[in-house]
Amino acid sequence: MFATRQISSIAKRAFSTSTSSNAAKVAVLGAAGGIGQPLSLLLKQSSLISHLSLYDIVNTPGVAADLSHINSNSKVSGHVPANDGLKEALTGCDIVVIPAGVPRKPGMTRDDLFNTNASIVRDLAVACAEHCPKAHILVIANPVNSTVPIVAEVFKKANVFDPKRLFGVTTLDVVRASRFVSEVKKVSTEDAKITVIGGHSGVTIVPLLSQSGHSFTEEEVKALTHRIQFGGDEVVKAKNGTGSATLSMAFAGARFTNSLLEATVAGKKNIVEPTFVQSDVFAKEGVEFFATNVELGPNGVEKIHPVGKVNAYEQGLIDAAVPELKGNIAKGKAFIKA
Ligand code: NAD
Ligand code: LMR
Repeated sequence: MFATRQISSIAKRAFSTSTSSNAAKVAVLGAAGGIGQPLSLLLKQSSLISHLSLYDIVNTPGVAADLSHINSNSKVSGHVPANDGLKEALTGCDIVVIPAGVPRKPGMTRDDLFNTNASIVRDLAVACAEHCPKAHILVIANPVNSTVPIVAEVFKKANVFDPKRLFGVTTLDVVRASRFVSEVKKVSTEDAKITVIGGHSGVTIVPLLSQSGHSFTEEEVKALTHRIQFGGDEVVKAKNGTGSATLSMAFAGARFTNSLLEATVAGKKNIVEPTFVQSDVFAKEGVEFFATNVELGPNGVEKIHPVGKVNAYEQGLIDAAVPELKGNIAKGKAFIKA
């Protein structure tokens, strides 16, 4: 607590007017973790953030003290549960990013994390609904296909749910897709913009390579699709029991947060990012949340893009994703309803 107050007062003195006048308070929950630390470092560079509020069950005073010496204009505060730390971290927040939760070990699916992470995300969502009900909530914690519905149900229970302000962060899938395609096609990642739809686990991750403007052999399509769907497993295997993607996820999480800040704080138009949101795109099939490209605006979701033209192979991927997604979403909702 002492550390938090000390950092805040030093940062207040260092504050200068070159931060955007309506800059945002952004909280990172799970800020001392493998994703939380590099994500917070990347967010510390944003001039659209006036206050970076770091919460974790441990170690945030140290992380905050360290980041607070970086001479960008945002104030940094670190909070732990003691002394109403979560309330203090969240009050006044415009954006809350949630990487809190356990990561996978080899042999596990993201759904295997449900038993631990569902209650972590639920409890954090309850606090957000109470202390910053209008904040945009960006869920990174896995299984995203279930944790996003969990946050929605908690907000509904508290009568504060706004579907335009709840996002599952699926940016890592398009970041990976872009990189993997650029390697195969030997082009710049700028020229490898890949739409990825669906959800964020295995077969629910559906890359639409046919929309990329590149041509691929059948073998390339199958290999790339598999690599994009199971890219997370590559990292889990390589880290050999010590965790899952953290640095690439921090990059992806910062990209999504910065896009949202550009749309909400800087008022920029035509900001489009893929994200898992409440969506009508597959409502007829009973899928309540789905990731497609989404245009972001001052209030969050401005326009959900349709899936667009897909080929027979991609239609097969969508057909496989739909029942899995429905199950994941139902599991998240049932957890709160029960
Ligand atoms: P980590 O274990 O390194 O860090 C998690 C942090 O959460 C820890 O610091 C821990 O203390 C904290 N935490 C635990 N319970 C908390 C609570 N109740 N309140 C606040 N903080 C709490 O894990 P990581 O590698 O940073 O991964 C975090 C999550 O992100 C995992 O669930 C992982 O599967 C997920 N993830 C998602 C994506 C994605 O694309 N959406 C990508 C990578 C990882
Ligand atoms: C990822 O895609 O890297 C994350 O969802 C973490 C994981 O468990 O694979």
